[in-house]
Amino acid sequence: MGVCGMLRVVQTGIGGLDVYDVQTCPVPKPAIGEILIRTEFAGINYLDVLMRRGEYTSTPKLPFTPGCGIVGTVVELGSSVNGQSGFAVGDRVVVLTQSGGYSQYVTADARAATHVPEGVPSDKAVCCVSSYVAAHQLLHRAARVHGGWRVLVHSAAGGVGTALTQLARIAGCAVYGTASAGKHDTVRGLGAVPIDYRSSDFVVEMSRNEPDGIDAVFDPIGGEHWLRSRRVVRRGGIVVGYGMRTIRTAARMLVASRGRRFSYYSMNTRNVLQNTEDLRLILNLCSENIIDPVIGPRLPLERVHDAHRLLTDGAITGKALLDCR
Ligand SMILES: NC(=O)c1ccc[n+]([C@@H]2O[C@H](COP(=O)([O-])OP(=O)(O)OC[C@H]3O[C@@H](n4cnc5c(N)ncnc54)[C@H](OP(=O)(O)O)[C@@H]3O)[C@@H](O)[C@H]2O)c1
Repeated sequence: MGVCGMLRVVQTGIGGLDVYDVQTCPVPKPAIGEILIRTEFAGINYLDVLMRRGEYTSTPKLPFTPGCGIVGTVVELGSSVNGQSGFAVGDRVVVLTQSGGYSQYVTADARAATHVPEGVPSDKAVCCVSSYVAAHQLLHRAARVHGGWRVLVHSAAGGVGTALTQLARIAGCAVYGTASAGKHDTVRGLGAVPIDYRSSDFVVEMSRNEPDGIDAVFDPIGGEHWLRSRRVVRRGGIVVGYGMRTIRTAARMLVASRGRRFSYYSMNTRNVLQNTEDLRLILNLCSENIIDPVIGPRLPLERVHDAHRLLTDGAITGKALLDCR
């Protein structure tokens, strides 16, 4: 290949930004059944923050490279990956993994890779990998939304939140979205009614707008926040939790009472067939311009600390990316 070294981010401990180390290391060789990808962009997910802080139960063993969604070009095929696998050197692919993405080269199981349709820019494609697949599964596999439903999306200007809002509108739902005030134009632009959860109480705002309650709430905050979300849902409606950003107490029993349903969604990166099927559907929507991912800042791999600072300060609208080129 002619390339022997690469940069990657290594998480060396649990804690603050200092546990991220940008290291030089040899380019890995693809094992049997794997492909080697030269990364263009890696998505930055809040999940990476939770792993860094030790707040995610399935965090890989230390040290490891974080990052669960990448886009790039296939540069080498492992043995047993041949023409029949559908992949060739030069193909542009996206991959959903649990970790390993913050790196200039990534080896991945060929079965977990999906071709990027021509015409879909790489930065948009990488947004589809984790945020849109999660949003699609939250809407259609967890909540099973119908056209005409009224739904509330928390963190509506974030990576998953913008995806949820767009896909809920496409499914024919009326959407409310909580976000800080500076991000309301983005939320409105996606077709949702913004609610400033910082200067007002979303429960009060929602009961003013929808006194009979709504059909579903998508809540990544967790714990007691799920109980507050339940208060805006009608009898028979559903709260879908997915991520516990501030409060780690699982309150699912309490949420699923008084005639309201509760579902906790967690993406299973090992469910390759289902994820690939959903990812293809999302990439097709992107290639037909039915969805348009909102891209936040793109920072070079070496500036991973700055990128994470922006994310934890709540300063990002849409999806933040690491530029690994
Ligand atoms: N269960 C799963 O399989 C799964 C899959 C994907 C993501 N997730 C979860 O989904 C959530 C969203 O992930 P994401 O990557 O799309 O992140 P994100 O929403 O882009 O995260 C940043 C945004 O969240 C908002 N926010 C609300 N409360 C916050 C707080 N207490 N601290 C910091 N920011 C806060 C901020 O926007 P405002 O300024 O508008 O508040 C901020 O810009 C995360 O909790 C993640 O773990 C779960």
